[in-house]
Amino acid sequence: MKILVTGGLGFIGSHTVVELLEKNYEVVIIDDLSNSDEKVLDGIKQITAKEVQFEKIDLKDRKAVADFFAQHSDIQGVIHFAASKAVGESVENPLLYYENNLSSLVYVLKELLLLGKSNFIFSSSCTVYGEADQVPITEEAEIKPALSPYGNTKQIGEEIIKDSCKAHPNLNAISLRYFNPIGAHPSALIGELPLGVPQNLVPFITQTAVGLRSELSVFGDDYPTEDGTCIRDYIYVVDLAKAHVKALERLINLKASSNYEVFNLGTGKGSSVLDVIRSFERISEQKLPYRIASRREGDVVKAFADTKKANEELQWSSETSLDEALLTALQWEKKIKK
Ligand code: UD1
Repeated sequence: MKILVTGGLGFIGSHTVVELLEKNYEVVIIDDLSNSDEKVLDGIKQITAKEVQFEKIDLKDRKAVADFFAQHSDIQGVIHFAASKAVGESVENPLLYYENNLSSLVYVLKELLLLGKSNFIFSSSCTVYGEADQVPITEEAEIKPALSPYGNTKQIGEEIIKDSCKAHPNLNAISLRYFNPIGAHPSALIGELPLGVPQNLVPFITQTAVGLRSELSVFGDDYPTEDGTCIRDYIYVVDLAKAHVKALERLINLKASSNYEVFNLGTGKGSSVLDVIRSFERISEQKLPYRIASRREGDVVKAFADTKKANEELQWSSETSLDEALLTALQWEKKIKK
């Protein structure tokens, strides 16, 4: 069965491609290489010893998307990762984000419908909940006004899919709302490749540990949490990748309870920034240089998932501890530093 993975050379995309290939799906990747590297293909092939097709296509190019679908009319499903994801950049250049993240989604959905195919998985984010009224956060929690154009593209993206599912009953879609994806494949052959100075906590920690950064700034220690630092739900990327295969199979096997569904993907456990630092120090057996800095604008205090729906309906749960996930992140960092 042939599956299209857009953004399949990116962080979560590449790990999902590996899981699909290991379950014997045929995979075709579209990526524009704007925030990824063609070498990731070698990593995927080395891990799986399988062939994977790759086409460098910019999904904003309507004609290129149409041509692609005409050539691959045997596609049975799409997992759509391709999107820009830097929050700060989206504030500076909102139109880039609206154009890139939303036109690509519209074009892919249109072509999928034209082909009469139905299975679509969307890469969404817990950012749609903003500062939730309650933790753990269930899928029923209110969608709060987005704090950035990036976050808004995820909210609007979900609405585009929901409206399309309403209008086209044969379209089956699932939005997966990720909490904080971290780590790398245990082979250390694929992992996260942040552009420039990492904005996310774990890549910043691993770069500090290998000496690329002098110290980590902890953004605020005066939040209303036990140790004063923000709480997040750090989910191992390979566990997350496996959830995509489960979601796809739910659609293929006609197990969905409606033609548009939403699932939270997290561990269900909240960890503070200081918890992550302590865990990292434990697995790396080294002290991590850090200092307390001021709060970062737009950070929510606490976000962690209620995983009941994903556990019961997707029959998926995270399997990997924070320590184990951080160890893979460090091994990957050491590998790419060489
Ligand atoms: C961020 C984005 C979110 C996006 C997600 C993708 C913001 C405000 N949010 O989530 O929209 O979906 O990445 O992975 O950018 N921290 C430090 N020092 C650092 C970096 C982070 O203390 O150098 C803290 C942050 O304040 C936060 C936690 O670590 O409490 C996690 O931060 P990060 O990895 O950037 O993830 P989010 O902010 O949750």
